[in-house]
Amino acid sequence: MYQQMTLFAEHPDMPIDTDFRSNMERHRYRFRETDIGDITFQTGQRESVHRWYRLTPSFSPGVVRFFLSYFDIDRNSVVLDPFSGRGTTIIECQKLGIPGIGCEINPLLHKTGVSSLIWKLCDIGLFDNYAEELRDSLDKYGKKDIHDVLKKIGAELPNIHDVFRWWKPDVLKDLLIARELSKKSEYKKIYNYLWLCLNQTCLDCANIHRNHPTISFDDNHNRNIDVFSCVNDFLSTVKTDLKSITKEERLFNGLGKIKLHDSKDMGLLNAEEKISCVITSPPYPNRFSYIHQTRPQLYFMEMLKERKDATEIDLESIGGTWGRATSVLTKGDRLIDIPDELADILSYIPRLREKSLLMCNYATKYFLNLHQHIRSLKKICGKNFRGAYVVGNSRLSDVEIYTETILSKIFGLNGFDVDEIIVFRKRGGRKKLYESAVCVRRS
Ligand SMILES: C[S@@+](CC[C@H](N)C(=O)[O-])C[C@H]1O[C@@H](n2cnc3c(N)ncnc32)[C@H](O)[C@@H]1O
Repeated sequence: MYQQMTLFAEHPDMPIDTDFRSNMERHRYRFRETDIGDITFQTGQRESVHRWYRLTPSFSPGVVRFFLSYFDIDRNSVVLDPFSGRGTTIIECQKLGIPGIGCEINPLLHKTGVSSLIWKLCDIGLFDNYAEELRDSLDKYGKKDIHDVLKKIGAELPNIHDVFRWWKPDVLKDLLIARELSKKSEYKKIYNYLWLCLNQTCLDCANIHRNHPTISFDDNHNRNIDVFSCVNDFLSTVKTDLKSITKEERLFNGLGKIKLHDSKDMGLLNAEEKISCVITSPPYPNRFSYIHQTRPQLYFMEMLKERKDATEIDLESIGGTWGRATSVLTKGDRLIDIPDELADILSYIPRLREKSLLMCNYATKYFLNLHQHIRSLKKICGKNFRGAYVVGNSRLSDVEIYTETILSKIFGLNGFDVDEIIVFRKRGGRKKLYESAVCVRRS
């Protein structure tokens, strides 16, 4: 199916901004605009399995199909996504019977991806049993105080600062009852799907603004939050999707793997086979912290215990700018060291360091980390390796960061050829922000 897609429909309504275009021309990269429809997370929300988790910065399954076709990938290839997020690339590959390996540093997203690859024929009736027992438990504890209920069910409050700002006490009580119930041995066979359900429901039931890429508190809302309905709706979706997985697709169960791995060192991945192609989207240098944005779930789903754990992972993440990452980058009040070979490539440095040393250090740490990743990627590339890195340009303290051309140069420095840069779309409603794919190869 993926071989029949049309490539490169030109997008007449999307004239590329002059500065963005002339930057690519100045660096002599071949580029083209293309329209493959909505490439945001939203289309994934309408496709089976992909909709089991809503990660707003994820790309659409259509992006994956586009590149599988572009690179002429078949079932003998091995696809890698070193920044797998909620797992879009590897899920789509598994649907098509293509072996895939994902890496993800955030334990919550890692488990989300792994759980989304399990397509077992399970006893669908267990979903109804769980919902029924949940209904009874919620009725039983309905009028009781959260602290009494927690003692009774042997659970603790999530170890997150200002916990009742995240969830109203009665909502949190219901969520914790649902979480503890999911651990009962009779639901072991569907635990994976209950985990996914609570992972999504705990966010849907939080006091936060919805439909925003970043989470922020919605302190004064009057929404009626009904935990049971959220759980029930999610389980119905999973049931529908599990039933819709074809016999052939079911045979691919387990073909995709996602590892909890720091992609700054791909050599440590121990991949059994050489990689044919990469289809990925690393973080952008725009200060979006995946750890910060997923921390209510990281703590509710008991992925992290101590409060400091989240900020330690953010420091190791590419593009992490929260907590420890900021204190480390501010320390010494100076520009972080860069290797000589990157000095000319990181062309934003003189202007940005003048405007904000911290922003300059954020951007520089970001590119240093990508340099580490690309250098180590060479160790696992197969013959005729191809790669697509979807990135966005950014603006920090009013200074343009042309991620796509900087990344292209870093690839060049590491012995990869850049075929072209494909510009997909403007993003975020803001002018001059684009999403593009840097397409590379290595013989
Ligand atoms: C743009 S998101 C990827 C979204 C993905 N394409 C999808 O559709 O879900 C980038 C991901 O890279 C992960 N990441 C950041 N630094 C990493 C590192 N050093 N190693 C592995 N993953 C990392 C982030 O946690 C985040 O999930």
